[in-house]
Amino acid sequence: MFLLIVYLFSSDASSQEENNKPPGPKPLPILGNMLQLNLKRPYLSLFEMSKKYGSVFTVHLGPKKVVVLAGYQTVKKALVNYAEEFGNRDISPIFFDFSKGHGILFSNGENWKEMRRFSLTTLRDFGMGKRGSEEKIIEETCYLKEVFKEFQGKPFDTSKPLNYATSNVISAIVYGSRFQYSDPEFKEMVNRANETIKLSGSPSIQIYNMFPWLGYWLKDWRLIMKKREQNLRQIKELVNNLEETLNVEETRGLVDSFLIRKKNAEKAGDKDTLFHEQNLIITVSNLFAAGTDTTSTTLRWCLLLMAKYPQIQDRVQEEIDRVIGRRQAVMEDRKNLPYTDAVIHETQRLANIVPMSLPHTTTCDVKFQGFFIKKGTCVFPLLTSVLKDETQWESPLTFNPAHFLDEQGWFVRKDAFMPFSAGHRVCLGESLARMELFLFFTSLLQHFRFTPPPGVSEDQLDLTPAVGFTLNPSPHKLCAVSRASHIYA
Ligand code: HEM
Repeated sequence: MFLLIVYLFSSDASSQEENNKPPGPKPLPILGNMLQLNLKRPYLSLFEMSKKYGSVFTVHLGPKKVVVLAGYQTVKKALVNYAEEFGNRDISPIFFDFSKGHGILFSNGENWKEMRRFSLTTLRDFGMGKRGSEEKIIEETCYLKEVFKEFQGKPFDTSKPLNYATSNVISAIVYGSRFQYSDPEFKEMVNRANETIKLSGSPSIQIYNMFPWLGYWLKDWRLIMKKREQNLRQIKELVNNLEETLNVEETRGLVDSFLIRKKNAEKAGDKDTLFHEQNLIITVSNLFAAGTDTTSTTLRWCLLLMAKYPQIQDRVQEEIDRVIGRRQAVMEDRKNLPYTDAVIHETQRLANIVPMSLPHTTTCDVKFQGFFIKKGTCVFPLLTSVLKDETQWESPLTFNPAHFLDEQGWFVRKDAFMPFSAGHRVCLGESLARMELFLFFTSLLQHFRFTPPPGVSEDQLDLTPAVGFTLNPSPHKLCAVSRASHIYA
């Protein structure tokens, strides 16, 4: 009798759970809802679906069940008010192959907590130290301006120089030194990182994530694993060189700080320490992977939008000339450059470069907005639906810096500005990225006028993003015409 009661209760509970599952389109066996998704731009299909099924709904990506969260109110509530419940990372097979549970991006539990805490503190320490991040970024803007100048106003693709510049900022913080843009080892490192990001979003790797036993038979999988090996080997070499010249009195960067923690743990005989070589190498590789392409892509969008909307570029340059004039911009200037700041924010909002954030999972069974979501369910916080939420933005689909300005022209923060996500997993590099965007953008606009190539009109500049995991502008070239006569007149 007792067992019968337990059974009735549990079956009642599970059928209640079934009834309370977030709604969604009916899945096909094996394929799930794949046929209903635009596989090149799944975030657009999911945004459309949210209009039909509501702000919490279920889709099946092949055999994998995913709960999608859409719209500012829902995403914010989940990530901030239910931060613990929605705070784990979903680690797909390819990212497990990369990290094996180490580092920050694709780890959970104690490992994630310890590596995240260490990296945040260290990034802050180096940010506030004598040679802080601001100084490192300013130094890099000088090298970047030189490269842009070398094109002498002729059309060029901005991606590589911007990528080198943002990689060097991370290098300076992590290793304590920057690379020459012409250094073949550096070029290889940056190019390999970009190719790996691109490959990890390719259709065959998506198939691998659904059916990991296919692994070895897929060419892309073998290629990506080879690049991973090369990447880790290169990081290890750089780390070994730093270890040989380590001086505990004078830490050069994050690697030195880590090595000191590692040595202290070894001295204390702490066998369970998380400060071991694997964690160091994967953490370093995570900081490069998460911190370089994202920032340089955003800068590319900034410059493209300036070329497309010359009147907006006029206003930015008028403000920079009036407030800063000829001297180097510093972070202190940001509060006096509200229009420039609004343009950077509006670029991030419209460009929406990480449209589905990175996937999370639930840490326990959750009751959320009347729905039941089981522990371990994969969750997509659909950032695109926040950055383009009609209830939050006056003109969600157009480039409108006024979204971030009050009537007097002062900068206003917006709660729905969430390109870095929110909650426990919020981007670890947010403050560094914002500093980079401000200093690089302001310095470039101070020195160059950005225009389409000769014979191409502003209207012809295409704002459709290329296909990929992060949203890059489609391939294009711009002219960076020196404003020297303007500035030094
Ligand atoms: C414009 C530039 C950037 C954008 C738009 C951006 C955006 C994001 C987003 C959306 C996430 C996922 C958050 C989530 O899981 O909900 C993330 C995570 C992360 N970002 Fe960034 N990011 C940028 C720059 C950076 C930089 C410069 C760094 C490095 C210093 C960095 C390091 C990380 C790390 C380590 C994570 C993983 C956090 C975790 O899992 O706990 N990001 N970023």
